[in-house]
Amino acid sequence: MTRTVYLNGAYLPETEAKVSIFDRGFLMADGVYEVTSVLGGKLIDFGGHCVRLARSLSELEMQNPHSEAEWLAIHRELVQLNGITDGMIYLQVTRGNPGDRDFAYPSADTKPTVVLFTQDKPGLAENPAAKTGWRVISVPDVRWGRRDIKTVQLLYPSMAKMMAKKAGVDDSWFVEDGVVTEGTSNNAYIVKGNKIITRQLSHDILHGITRAAVLRFAVEAQMEVEERPFTIAEAQGADEAFITSASAFVMPVVEIDGASVGSGKVGAVVPRLREIYLDEMRKAAI
Ligand code: PDD
Repeated sequence: MTRTVYLNGAYLPETEAKVSIFDRGFLMADGVYEVTSVLGGKLIDFGGHCVRLARSLSELEMQNPHSEAEWLAIHRELVQLNGITDGMIYLQVTRGNPGDRDFAYPSADTKPTVVLFTQDKPGLAENPAAKTGWRVISVPDVRWGRRDIKTVQLLYPSMAKMMAKKAGVDDSWFVEDGVVTEGTSNNAYIVKGNKIITRQLSHDILHGITRAAVLRFAVEAQMEVEERPFTIAEAQGADEAFITSASAFVMPVVEIDGASVGSGKVGAVVPRLREIYLDEMRKAAI
């Protein structure tokens, strides 16, 4: 089946959706994005993604082209048109097409380019990797200094994913000034006893929507949460480790730079957090 995608107000077959070569998303990576999961035909934490989208746009002095209700209607229409039960909705807003290349932002009346498309992933929440866990390597974090803005400039995260692939593992964790920032496209955590440790929010990492929910559920489950940086050595010596993202949810990490974390097998805490997260988010899905 040909996908139906959304482009600037129109629902089109993917082959007919075209964007200008002068679009600043294409020329300058001048755009932001969100990825929202769909489980059982419903959107997971849609409100959280909308709030972060508004913040990313405002940090880049871009107008939000839609209200939350309008964004919701577009997401739901795409889920319906493409018959998505489990999968993701990708949303991107760029500063649009000023008709030429120029470093300065175009005038405010330049229309943004708004693109949304679905990714069909049947059984997304039953990913078998959650039973075995991911293996990761550490790589230097050479990204720009505003990682809290969810921009489409993903070249280094792509390079880091390829470094992981070439090393025969699942993902890379970024390290800066001797401590972990986050994963290529996820937030990073370690577990020590009853405590979850993850880097505090700042410009250095993306403020994960899954992160916020998981930390809330962890506190509700009587776990302790400590927001501070950790080193690779501390992570290798932890009881368990994991990552979170809208598409992987809560995923155990069992090996870092060739060293086993804890027993080297998926532990007890991370699967429990994953279960709580998925249960609660399915209940709240819209
Ligand atoms: N990535 N950190 C980075 C660098 C990310 O790209 C992401 C999300 C996260 C987790 O954020 P959230 O829990 O809101 O998904 C953290 C998305 C899934 C992606 O690029 O596909």
